[in-house]
Amino acid sequence: MKGFVSLVGGGPGDPELLTCKGRRRLEECEVVVYDALVAPALLDLCPATAERLYVGKRQGRHALPQPEIDALLVQLGRQGRRVVRLKGGDPFVFGRGYEEVLALREAGVDHEVVPGVTAGVAVPAYAGIPVTHRGTARAVTFATGHPAATGEGTDFVALARVPGTLVVFMGLTNLAEITASLVAGGRSPGEPAAVIAEGTTARQRTVVGTLTDLAERVHAAALPSPALLVVGDVVSLAERELAVAAE
Ligand SMILES: C[S@@+](CC[C@H](N)C(=O)[O-])C[C@H]1O[C@@H](n2cnc3c(N)ncnc32)[C@H](O)[C@@H]1O
Repeated sequence: MKGFVSLVGGGPGDPELLTCKGRRRLEECEVVVYDALVAPALLDLCPATAERLYVGKRQGRHALPQPEIDALLVQLGRQGRRVVRLKGGDPFVFGRGYEEVLALREAGVDHEVVPGVTAGVAVPAYAGIPVTHRGTARAVTFATGHPAATGEGTDFVALARVPGTLVVFMGLTNLAEITASLVAGGRSPGEPAAVIAEGTTARQRTVVGTLTDLAERVHAAALPSPALLVVGDVVSLAERELAVAAE
């Protein structure tokens, strides 16, 4: 029996945003290795006999370091098992999915990726914000607000000069620094911006403001993670939420 590892994107929170292909992989797996941001209802799709291994990663709290997750996937694949590596959103958007691909490739374990619906598009959409809109935003940039382990964070002063919508993942902790850097880089202090927490779930909350006052508003509202920052004129298009979570 040859093992096979499917990297499956579980979507951003609403379990109904799982793809049909991702659902089939979960229904047929023998073991599922899953993260903190995965909707719990997705695990119910696995056979009752499937082994469930939590390797949850939340900022600052790594249940298993990435190299150990890579090694675990290789080990399970070599045991000849049908493995689903279930990740939040899309595996290749700030998900470290390609590190897992490299480990599996190097070890000679067969694998595939099943893309998922990324929070970067779906979370703003649920909040009523289109990431592009004819006449308003011709481009969208995805960036991480998480400082790199090397100490080299994203250069938001430089990113400020890129026109269009800016979507920042993992930007809650450094929100005040990020918005200040964008203004320092040339974005208007009055530019609309929003933070959406626990997007696409029944607990979704949105705080809207400008680059000048957003950090203060978000702090006052005590928004929890996971949360996404959206900057640009598209934010002012949002009048009401456009979708309802399945939960
Ligand atoms: C490690 S990244 C994973 C992103 C994921 N691979 C994707 O494509 O959506 C985690 C970050 O994604 C964002 N995120 C994920 N799910 C979210 C949600 N339901 N609501 C708001 N932001 C979310 C947050 O910025 C969070 O800190």
